[in-house]
Amino acid sequence: MRTGRDNRTGLVDMMRGEELAFAFSPTMVEVTVREFDPNKDSEGVEAVERICEVGPSGKLSLFTDLHGDPICRVRNSPTFLMLVAEIGQETVGMIRGCIKTVTCGKKLHRHGSKQVPIYTKLAYILGLRVSPHHRRMGIGLKLVQRVEEWFRENGAEYAYMATEKDNVASVKLFTDKCGYSKFRTPSILVNPVFGHPLRTSSKVTIIRLAPNDAELLYRTKFATTEFFPRDVDSVLNNNLSLGTFLAVPRGSYRPDTWPGAPHFLADPPSSWALLSVWNCKDVFTLQVRGASRVKKTLAKTTRLLDRALPWLRLPSIPNLFQPFGFHFLYGLGGEGPQAQKMVRALCAFAHNLAKDRGCQVVATEVSSQEPLRCAIPHWKILSCEEDLWCMKRLGEDYSDGSVGDWTKSPPGFSIFVDPREF
Ligand SMILES: CC(C)(COP(=O)(O)OP(=O)(O)OC[C@H]1O[C@@H](n2cnc3c(N)ncnc32)[C@H](O)[C@@H]1OP(=O)(O)O)[C@@H](O)C(=O)NCCC(=O)NCCS
Repeated sequence: MRTGRDNRTGLVDMMRGEELAFAFSPTMVEVTVREFDPNKDSEGVEAVERICEVGPSGKLSLFTDLHGDPICRVRNSPTFLMLVAEIGQETVGMIRGCIKTVTCGKKLHRHGSKQVPIYTKLAYILGLRVSPHHRRMGIGLKLVQRVEEWFRENGAEYAYMATEKDNVASVKLFTDKCGYSKFRTPSILVNPVFGHPLRTSSKVTIIRLAPNDAELLYRTKFATTEFFPRDVDSVLNNNLSLGTFLAVPRGSYRPDTWPGAPHFLADPPSSWALLSVWNCKDVFTLQVRGASRVKKTLAKTTRLLDRALPWLRLPSIPNLFQPFGFHFLYGLGGEGPQAQKMVRALCAFAHNLAKDRGCQVVATEVSSQEPLRCAIPHWKILSCEEDLWCMKRLGEDYSDGSVGDWTKSPPGFSIFVDPREF
């Protein structure tokens, strides 16, 4: 497997050989963009991160704490880069980028009627931040342009980014200035973790799969899903992956006599569903700021009641006003008339796992057309109905292949959201 460092030589050469500083009017301040150096930039980057809200300001805002590791949100990707912008000695902005191979379409296998995935090299931009004191000076634009240079040098065919649809600054920067177009609008569904455990249906059995079994199931059933990562095995084997869980009707399969994925695929029950759990809590924490004292007190009261009277199963509001951790549910899918019931059981199971591990919320992200979406419990107030993904084709000279220009393709029913990039 390649590491982030392997592919960075192009950028390092470019930085050695080129004038990186640029100036702009009217203030004529000099801004330098260069590769992040963990030995000297960590503190400055965290300082910017702490004062940068994610999403529109003015309402409740979400802040991120990276636990002293600014690379944490990209380090699990096969190839990654982080750039910082500085004025003098001061860090004023940063951007992260990563590249991997994903499914962008499907075609019929040459022999037979089986659909097979079409892969492309895709880059992803995340964690773009410019200090509030240095905005509208062209720094965000410069950071995007520089990371795109690195994407091109490393052969990425497309780049995409995700933002809240009402984050005007971010949407305008990418669509008006950088040539991205609005591509998909999946939903981030967030459910609180209550003080009491949730009941799982007695008619459903949940089986924990070994990573190799999970990989076979995913590759067989989901490889043609848009954004499916070709290196799904490294996701499933990552230490942050807490497991893949399969739900089946009671009596069809049992954990103690599980015959393995090949047998299951040859003889599946009428309905089944699976999902995997990713431990974001150990990577970074979030915090909601801007809530009134009244709201905080109300939320606290619901928690006290839930703790005091757990048998009533009151829907308590978790403490999101202090740094909190969460689990991300990925690779959610299933088949059969009872697939929704299976998903509900899996979500209750995942809730209880998150509760035992001290998380305040459980989140997932699914396509706006996902058929299993209605079975995923979530609170609207915590969720984001339309997470806007914008996409750009990096090289016009790439052949269209069987998929054509991916940026113009219609959405499928499902997407695979890679937990490494959430
Ligand atoms: C989004 C963000 C990175 C922009 O950084 P920036 O350095 O201020 O952006 P630039 O100065 O390079 O702006 C380039 C263009 O983006 C657009 N833009 C930037 N901020 C804007 C705003 N507040 N309102 C409208 N358009 C805006 C404009 O088209 C601008 O060009 P112009 O100044 O010629 O009109 C910055 O606002 C930020 O850090 N926000 C908080 C974190 C965040 O939301 N990150 C994005 C998540 S993907």
